[in-house]
Amino acid sequence: MALLKKLNLMRSNEGPAQFGISKGDEPGHLGIWGVWKSSENLEVFRIVLQAQSQDRKAPGQVSYTLAPAKEKSFVQFIETTQEMKQFLVGSDRARTGEVSIQIWLNNQRVQALVYSLPEVIQCLRGKGSKAPQQAEVGSGYLSVDSKEIASMAHSELKSYSEKVKAEIAEKLRKAEEERIRLEEEKKAALAKAQAEAAAKAAKPAAQAAIGGAPVDRSKPTLAPAKTAIFFGSSTGNTANVAELLKKELGSVDYLKNITDIHPADLAVVENIIIGIPTWHIGELQDDWAAMLPEVKALSFAGKKVALFGLGDGKGYADTYVDGMAELLEPFEKGGAKLCGQWPTVGYEFNKSKAIRDGKFLGLVIDVENQDNLTDKRVKSWAALIQKEMGL
Ligand SMILES: Cc1cc2nc3c(=O)[nH]c(=O)nc-3n(C[C@H](O)[C@H](O)[C@H](O)COP(=O)(O)O)c2cc1C
Repeated sequence: MALLKKLNLMRSNEGPAQFGISKGDEPGHLGIWGVWKSSENLEVFRIVLQAQSQDRKAPGQVSYTLAPAKEKSFVQFIETTQEMKQFLVGSDRARTGEVSIQIWLNNQRVQALVYSLPEVIQCLRGKGSKAPQQAEVGSGYLSVDSKEIASMAHSELKSYSEKVKAEIAEKLRKAEEERIRLEEEKKAALAKAQAEAAAKAAKPAAQAAIGGAPVDRSKPTLAPAKTAIFFGSSTGNTANVAELLKKELGSVDYLKNITDIHPADLAVVENIIIGIPTWHIGELQDDWAAMLPEVKALSFAGKKVALFGLGDGKGYADTYVDGMAELLEPFEKGGAKLCGQWPTVGYEFNKSKAIRDGKFLGLVIDVENQDNLTDKRVKSWAALIQKEMGL
């Protein structure tokens, strides 16, 4: 349990060591800023707030402690206690008094600042003075110290920060180990999928070689029907989403992995729903890649097409679900009308080729990062295509 918070500080210009208060980013928060020399090597950083008043009992002192911090400037928004808020801006607030703010760095008090109540109140109301430009804003709010930290003497904090530093380093080491493990797992899955795809592709040739009847893949194996879901899936995620979708839609005549159909089967239904994960950094999934030349030769005149794509927005942020765009092209060129474009709101990624007019080309599912949203997304999209395709 990291009891000290890591101060999230950022770059700034050189400057003398200075601290001050500034307006909070929203009412109820106070900004504290600091700018100091690069030679400073901070181990522990503590802010202590103490209020005084002639007309009202002041609350006890409040401290905020951070470690370790070596950066050169910051603006950090801090939360105050209920008691302190009541004292400063509550219905029975103090009329006269002041707030002193002590800044402790490396076990030394480097500054003690005193502000009148109106100055602090202004800042708490989001109206006070701004922090200097060179102090860059840290992220998040600092909460008040736990009892354990607040009761710790300044002199104890340095050794405590060493412990916290070790804890942080250990956490980072474990996270890196986990990242490498996952990467290897993915690589192994990819190698397996590629080997399986290669074995499948070799089958017809082997059959021909031993004299088996050649298969005519331009002839459909399925009878004409209204609606089908066709998907490719290397590690099963797209297959799972296809199942979910079928359950939601209800009226689906075929649910088929494309390894089990002929290309011509894609054109036997009126409403074609296709599913594809993106692989190999922005490429089509292997089975779709193998079938694509034959798909290009088909006509989809008078058909409707909707597609769903799987991708990993954190692992492959710059090629997010790119495969969807490449797969859709031959269907649209063949005359199919696209249904089910889907908003990009709520997804985390940098770039994607699967966006047209500000929307995804179809439903996007990210099981790696947002699996908790999968069911909800499938449900809403199913309702959308039911309407657009007239299912
Ligand atoms: C080697 C590899 C490359 C990938 N490349 C991409 C990519 O470029 N873009 C993307 O959005 N997702 C990418 N992914 C993530 C997959 O699309 C994602 O894991 C998907 O859920 C896999 O679906 P499947 O199990 O149906 O094959 C990649 C995954 C792996 C393992």
